[in-house]
Amino acid sequence: MKRTHHCGQLRSSDVGTEVSLAGWIDSIRDHGGILFIDLRDREGLTQVKANPHSDDAVFNQAVHGLKDESVISISGIVVSRDGDNVNPALPTGEIEVDTRQVVVHNIAETPPFPIDDIKGDRVHEDLRLKYRYLDLRRDKMRKVIKLRHEATRSIRAYLDEEGFYDVETPTLFKSTPEGAREYLVPSRIQPGHFYALPQSPQQFKQMLMVSGIERYYQIARCYRDEDLRADRQMEFTQLDLEVSFVDREEMYSLVEGLMKRIWKDTLGVEMATPFPRISFQEAKNRYGVDKPDTRFGIEISDFSETFASSSFKVFSSTVKSGGVVKALKAPVLADITQGELKHLEEVAKSLGAKGLAFIKIEGGEWKSPIVKFFSDSEKAALQESLELEEGDIVFFAASQWEEACSILGRIRLECAELLKKRGQLEISPDRYDFLWVVDFPLMTYEEDQGRYVASHHPFTAPVEKDHELLDTDPRRVRGQHYDLVLNGVELGGGSIRIHQTELQKKIFEDVLEIPKDVVETRFGYMLEAFRYGAPPHGGIAFGLDRLVMILAGVSSIREVIAFPKTQKGQCLMTESPSQVSEKQLRELHIECLITEDDD
Ligand code: AMO
Ligand code: AMP
Repeated sequence: MKRTHHCGQLRSSDVGTEVSLAGWIDSIRDHGGILFIDLRDREGLTQVKANPHSDDAVFNQAVHGLKDESVISISGIVVSRDGDNVNPALPTGEIEVDTRQVVVHNIAETPPFPIDDIKGDRVHEDLRLKYRYLDLRRDKMRKVIKLRHEATRSIRAYLDEEGFYDVETPTLFKSTPEGAREYLVPSRIQPGHFYALPQSPQQFKQMLMVSGIERYYQIARCYRDEDLRADRQMEFTQLDLEVSFVDREEMYSLVEGLMKRIWKDTLGVEMATPFPRISFQEAKNRYGVDKPDTRFGIEISDFSETFASSSFKVFSSTVKSGGVVKALKAPVLADITQGELKHLEEVAKSLGAKGLAFIKIEGGEWKSPIVKFFSDSEKAALQESLELEEGDIVFFAASQWEEACSILGRIRLECAELLKKRGQLEISPDRYDFLWVVDFPLMTYEEDQGRYVASHHPFTAPVEKDHELLDTDPRRVRGQHYDLVLNGVELGGGSIRIHQTELQKKIFEDVLEIPKDVVETRFGYMLEAFRYGAPPHGGIAFGLDRLVMILAGVSSIREVIAFPKTQKGQCLMTESPSQVSEKQLRELHIECLITEDDD
């Protein structure tokens, strides 16, 4: 029996034709001996009527014992449903198929959870992941898989039109331990030697530019052994690209065109371009983070000057020791509960805060454990700058700049969540705030390592104007780096690269203080490659999972990956990782040293 239509296809114009359908039994109802089956395939549902009282014994036997989720093919005649029986909720709701023949491919056992959008969502995620093939049968999961396909199709079409070649690069790469921890793969034929799975195709794509490919892209799997979170997997997908002879402005407009195209093709939404830009410094000062969610206000202000010689020592001594005093005003949150306040304090403390001072404006008064230490002029400065009104609450962080920003950055997001819960902040689900964050510092000083480390990766070119600061004040050198942020999520990051051996060598050896022999073994080939003619180039990589997560309006990338890993890095369906045999280990020249504590 060859399928003639899919289950979302038949309409009243098909009435009278003989058709064959195939799929899963979504539900089966017995109405006085006549069976009504909702037959489901990828494209939709069609009601199929089977009357076992006909004289056909084979047919009767076939429909006897059918159960939900069994797989069957049927053939029959399309008939109209009369008036009351029309189902306006289904595109195929005006017809049904009067079945003449049934082929049973597979009778299903009762699934461990209902294949249903709403009931399925209530099931524990572990159970969904163990039976992911059943979970993916649910309508909403199937829609996400399709959306992801549409997004990658749109990406490929756009980049093809823009002259990009799709090039694959190796997944068995070399260990270059900067950045996240790597996954190592032992070599059987070279005892004691290891490959590493790539954290990104960064070095290969730069080599492709040296090769003259000019415009490269790849939808590439990347591997990072880091703590997993809602927007982080150990194995994730990047849309990775690299372009020769570009500057930052060209990269911005290329990427804006790409995002515009994806949103148009998948959601039918017209995004306005160009996207706004904000410097790293301003993002941290106003929003406390380098990936600001600009869909709501509640910004951070600086009061270091105001409190520099305050009699409130917590503030003045912080400023004297080079720190800052920052404040965040949250409107209408003065009636925050004790429990909520305590939670905010704990959040602040987990980020290093010693406390979370606050002022509530209630009943026309400033209620606060610290206001008694403030002078009139300090109070006036706060009032004037924050325009405090009844119902406001102000939080303070006195700390070193970086820490004060991140504390209030987190408190800002927590306040937004509280306001959302109370219905006092509404963010439309189809709001997309794209934002370029630029002018990152090229490197940051790591106290515990006693040296500078690259803020992103060591291949980022310094801003031309800042070259001379490399020798005098490396902290102030800005990188030609850019991050694309969407609704507070870091969607992608990239940069214009260094393409000259001497500058790259200087960054590795003099600025980042990577020992010469280490530079030679890790990056020697790259420095050599640049000597044979390297074009100026730059690129960017996007987290494809994160992009689809936002397109789909879900809050975890696990929801948009067909077979994701759990928080503990396991695939519950196939039960990986798993132990291997002694023989396998011997072949790889590996011995397992596991103590009971490791288990
Ligand atoms: P970066 O490390 O910023 O840049 O990665 C680019 C983007 O990849 C996504 N991403 C992740 N998504 C899910 N799980 C993870 N564990 C994870 N880690 C990163 C983020 C991020 O913005 N080679 C450079 C890019 C370049 O310079 O061209 C790179 O990999 O969305
Ligand atoms: P203390 O004088 O330490 O009791 O602090 C007075 C108030 O200021 C308390 O509400 C503390 O939570 C808060 N506080 C203490 N240190 C800081 C700080 N570094 N930043 C912001 N608030 C603080």
